[in-house]
Amino acid sequence: MHFDEEQIENLNKIYRINLINSCSGYKAANLIGTVSDKGDKNLAIFSSIVHLGSNPPLLGFFLRPTEIVPRHTYLNIKENSYYTINSVQEKFADKAHHTSAKYDRNISEFNVTEIESENINNFPAPFVKASSIKIGMKFVEEIKINYNKSRLIVGKIVQLNIDENLLTEDGFINLNDAKIATISGCDGYSFPDENIRKGYQKPKNI
Ligand SMILES: Cc1cc2nc3c(=O)[nH]c(=O)nc-3n(C[C@H](O)[C@H](O)[C@H](O)COP(=O)(O)O)c2cc1C
Repeated sequence: MHFDEEQIENLNKIYRINLINSCSGYKAANLIGTVSDKGDKNLAIFSSIVHLGSNPPLLGFFLRPTEIVPRHTYLNIKENSYYTINSVQEKFADKAHHTSAKYDRNISEFNVTEIESENINNFPAPFVKASSIKIGMKFVEEIKINYNKSRLIVGKIVQLNIDENLLTEDGFINLNDAKIATISGCDGYSFPDENIRKGYQKPKNI
């Protein structure tokens, strides 16, 4: 199939959403945990978390426009500066997916989905107890993409909690051992069960 610019613009809305969300391949699945000034906990699924650098250790995620739909994750990060990023595993992927439903701000997705929250070392944002990888984040900056009014939210890793059996000697985390999810499109979940490490590459002598 071939789609040109005009055909893409004229596609049926749902078809376009599915097509454009899956054409770039598999994405990471994570739950972002936050808390408001009032103490209301929030949990939402995000598939746009990206590595921005290891030193300083930075992760970013893309936030859809806030103009029409209020984004509680964003409001809480602006109020509190701290948030958590938690892995999604097969055993609670259904519940994790449901956190994308638009609840009122005073309704916590932790309660609705019965995903248990966890306080670790008094970190000022809630972790997901069942996640094998729990990352404590501190907000650094946001970059607005004027073309479509989305935002890149940049944060620094200030705490890392990883199930010990997943961690290898050189720091690599075996995601497949914990059945950690990847997402294709907006609602396709996969659970890879193999990885082949191909090592750091150097130029060939030619
Ligand atoms: C699989 C999946 C991935 C998502 N990824 C993102 C994302 O990367 N960025 C975003 O802004 N919203 C994303 N969403 C939508 C949010 O989960 C949704 O807007 C949610 O209601 C936000 O909750 P909040 O208002 O409590 O922050 C995703 C939804 C699904 C189902």
